[in-house]
Amino acid sequence: MSALSELYEEISLCRQCEIAKYRNKVVPGEGAEDADIMFIGEAPGWHEDQQGRPFVGPAGLYLDQLLASINLKREQVYIANVIKCRPPGNRDPLPSEMQECHKWLQRQIELISPKMIVTLGRYSMALFFSGKSISKIHGTAQKQDNIIYYAMYHPAAALHQQSLRQAIEADMLKIPPLLAQAESIAPAKQQPQQLNMFET
Ligand code: URA
Repeated sequence: MSALSELYEEISLCRQCEIAKYRNKVVPGEGAEDADIMFIGEAPGWHEDQQGRPFVGPAGLYLDQLLASINLKREQVYIANVIKCRPPGNRDPLPSEMQECHKWLQRQIELISPKMIVTLGRYSMALFFSGKSISKIHGTAQKQDNIIYYAMYHPAAALHQQSLRQAIEADMLKIPPLLAQAESIAPAKQQPQQLNMFET
C-alpha cells in the first residue's frame, strides 16, 4: 500500500470536526502520486460527497475541460480540497474546519511533492497567499522552496460568470509555459507562505 493510500485510510477515519457527522463519503483527493501539478479546491459538494471523489460535479466537468485545453487528463495531475468533508448545505468552510483539516493537505503536498500548486478559488488561495485578493493575483505565479504557487478562480464561479470564464481559461493556458520556465521564476520575498491560513 502506498503512503498516499495509507493517508486516505487515516483521513477516512477522521472525525475531528462536526461536519464529519454529516458526510456521506470523505473526499481525500485523487490523481497521480508523482504529479507535477496539484490543484487545490475548496470543499466537496453534493456530487463529491456521494462519490468520495473531488471535482466530479459540474465544476469538475469544467475542470476536466480546462485540463484538456492544456492536453492534460485528470489522472495526470493531483486534485484535492482544503477540507475533506462536505460542509452541510454547501456552506463555506469555517476557519476551524480549515485548521483541523490542514494537516491532511500538508501531508498530501509532502507526499506528492508537486512542482506547482494551483489554488482554485479564494479559500485555497488564502492558505498560500495571505491577505491577497484573487481578482488581483489570479494568473500570477510565485515560487517558494522550489514550488510554484499559482492562483486561479474557482471553476464553479467561472461557470456562471462570463468574465471569470475568460480569465480562468486564459490562466489555465499559462500553466505549461510556467512549468517549462520554472527555473526562471523569481523566489517570492515573503509570500506565499504555507500556513498563512484562515484569513479569507
Ligand atoms: N468544488 C470544490 O472546491 N471542490 C470539489 O471537489 C468540488 C467542487
